[in-house]
Amino acid sequence: MDKLLLKSGARLKGEIDISGAKNAALPILCAALLSPEPLHLTNVPRLRDIATMQRLLGEMGVAVTTEGAAMALDASDLNNPVASYEMVKTMRAAILVLGPLLARCGEARVSLPGGCAIGARPVDQHIKGLQAMGADITVEQGYIHAKASRLKGARICTDMVTVTGTENLMMAACLADGETIIENAAREPEVVDLANCLVSMGARISGAGADVIRIQGVPRLHGARHAVMPDRIETGTYLCAAAITGGDVRLGKTSAAYLDAVIDKLMDAGCDITTERDAIRLQAPPRLKAVSLRTAPYPAFPTDMQAQFMAINCVAEGVATLRETIFENRFMHVNELMRLGANIQIEGSNAIVRGVERLEGATVMATDLRASASLIIAGLVAQGETLIDRIYHLDRGYERIEEKLAQLGAEVRRIR
Ligand code: EPZ
Repeated sequence: MDKLLLKSGARLKGEIDISGAKNAALPILCAALLSPEPLHLTNVPRLRDIATMQRLLGEMGVAVTTEGAAMALDASDLNNPVASYEMVKTMRAAILVLGPLLARCGEARVSLPGGCAIGARPVDQHIKGLQAMGADITVEQGYIHAKASRLKGARICTDMVTVTGTENLMMAACLADGETIIENAAREPEVVDLANCLVSMGARISGAGADVIRIQGVPRLHGARHAVMPDRIETGTYLCAAAITGGDVRLGKTSAAYLDAVIDKLMDAGCDITTERDAIRLQAPPRLKAVSLRTAPYPAFPTDMQAQFMAINCVAEGVATLRETIFENRFMHVNELMRLGANIQIEGSNAIVRGVERLEGATVMATDLRASASLIIAGLVAQGETLIDRIYHLDRGYERIEEKLAQLGAEVRRIR
């Protein structure tokens, strides 16, 4: 299992480019299932999760070709609407094939995604919405069996804001008979990017980005070309890495447009941030001020940035309270940060972080994607060496992370 060895001391400086958004690319790859004509994508990040989704689609009969960050998906010979447990257990986002398969093939057999490190993460809202559209769904031996001769438009209000739930239902509704209204819809930018791609394929969607999305079903979708939006969580992660080291970095091929809540908190912590059309520059003070936060659906502070902000609070001046409202177990990084000398107390869904003068390097273990990122951020300033184990979690969501960190001056090495 690969490990990452970090040596502290460097103030991150210089410039890197941000990759395409993992959480936009994953549903957009599934959108290819909706049309018999090819979907041509650019700015697709090269990540483990993308490779897994590629394999899953390939098993269904989708021809996928890639060249660097470009990808072409041809679902004209879609012949096996099944997502096996083997595939789904490694990547929960595989649930995103359910809506498109049902809409295009009239049937689907998709393994229930197991839980994961950060929580139970059920998919009851996905199922409820598809049943409202007329699908006949049973769950047997850990598989979702779904059938529908043709889905019908429906008015659906999800019990809570669900990103992939909104995406699954929006994709299914594109080929349904009549209008579907999704209320309490997720407003995340990745939902909007998916909607933009679907519209370029001929779908009729209005309201994406707001909490009510309307979709007029059409008989079929055609091929299209789409550039995946930049990854706002990768962007936020490198901003935090620069901030904790008192650094000065410029991130290219990205946008500040989707990061207001994160940028506000970094400015509260004492950072100077300047934004250009497709770049962000951060200049950090020698020591950050502690900033409290509360995660919530977009446009509020993203849960995917909570662990990274916990890391910068570990050595900031003052006390911060981080409240996690989306997932029930998204504090797996706390114990690992404490191994580095952090002073953190958990009280229910609150973590109270008291900034210390310095952290000490140690061996720590990555538990989930964003927790791994928080260990890297802390490892950049923990005195001496920090060895991070199980970094396959990182490779799921961060393209060439050690290369990009090294390009900013970090002393980092992957040990195979
Ligand atoms: C998406 O997960 C992201 N993944 C997650 O990013 C992100 O943390 C999350 O949204 C919240 O922003 C992708 O987009 C591939 P949810 P998703 O459905 O859609 C509950 C990362 O690090 N819920 O919005 O699975 C659920 O348990 C990943 O890149 C139900 O109860 O999250 C959670 O408490 C981690 N029933 C809350 O809603 C359902 O049917 C929000 O989950 C669906 C969700």
